Amino acid sequence: MLHMQLADMEQIMNQAATLKQWKQFSSPKEGHNTYRNRKNSVNQGHPRVICFSSGKGGVGKTSIVTNLAIALSQKGKKVLILDADLGLANVDVMLGLVPKYSIHHLFTGNKELHDILIDGPGGIKLLPASSGIQEMVNLDESEKLFLLNEFDSLQMPLDIMLIDNAAGISDTVMYFNMAAQERVVVLTPEPTSITDAYALIKVLVRTHKVNRFHIIINWVNSKQEAHRVFSQLATVADKFLGILSLNFLGFIPKDAAVPKSVRKQRAAVELFPESRASRKMMELAENILNTEESLTQDGNIKFFWKNLLGI
Ligand SMILES: Nc1ncnc2c1ncn2[C@@H]1O[C@H](COP(=O)(O)OP(=O)(O)OP(=O)(O)O)[C@@H](O)[C@H]1O
Ligand SMILES: [Mg+2]
Repeated sequence: MLHMQLADMEQIMNQAATLKQWKQFSSPKEGHNTYRNRKNSVNQGHPRVICFSSGKGGVGKTSIVTNLAIALSQKGKKVLILDADLGLANVDVMLGLVPKYSIHHLFTGNKELHDILIDGPGGIKLLPASSGIQEMVNLDESEKLFLLNEFDSLQMPLDIMLIDNAAGISDTVMYFNMAAQERVVVLTPEPTSITDAYALIKVLVRTHKVNRFHIIINWVNSKQEAHRVFSQLATVADKFLGILSLNFLGFIPKDAAVPKSVRKQRAAVELFPESRASRKMMELAENILNTEESLTQDGNIKFFWKNLLGI
């Protein structure tokens, strides 16, 4: 079962609230918790690949990914969104884009990768992958190599790729998390969102041996609420999952500017740049740039596709 009983969780958290943990997690500074900082620099030839997931659906992944992509682009970065969600509220819909093709069309043989990529607002690029993902991971070896070559030959300056993943713990969600170099888990203060975020982290830790996560708390009423939610998650994860690093990347307040801009199919950072949510999105972008990427060497885009394809 995905859902942990809230009462159980509260009991566990009370037991686990030791002084040490309190010190460690009670007042996280956004983007400054357990990852070391790094200077802003263009990641020439070595783009960061960051996958956004959530246990529960509808917590704001797509809203955050689209706004962050534009915010990062405004800060001078070359950004690509990979839309990996089969759901309906996709990146293209949120940004008022109409992709003609998807990764699926690569397999039919008559389209190339650059036909599929589309230009988004604020200079970002979008790779609509939602249709075709299942085929992608089930290809035979020679098809995978062909695809890898396609990705590899794409001459495009790129600093950061953001992956908008589907909710839950399906195999496809795991593929993208495993292939990416960094992982963000998005959650809201809703109890089911917290327990489902924990469930997602648990699967990634236990089954896939991932132990570093960025955390974004969305839809909060106050900074204190965001810190409380992070603290709850961190306390339980610390108690039950052993050594892992949760980095509080930041929070986004509940703000009508977000759904308003979704309805207008524009990004909030462009339409309502002065809104509280947009200002926090800009801060999040800054925090990402100030956070050192994963220390593993397999962080470049080629490794990402290789990992994803399993070759
Ligand atoms: N901070 C916020 N304040 C108010 N509304 C928000 C906020 N974040 C997201 N929303 C609203 O919540 C709804 C769901 O957001 P979104 O589609 O981004 O979630 P998601 O996690 O991508 O969902 P799914 O799991 O279905 O892909 C949208 O209508 C959006 O406008
Ligand atoms: Mg979504």
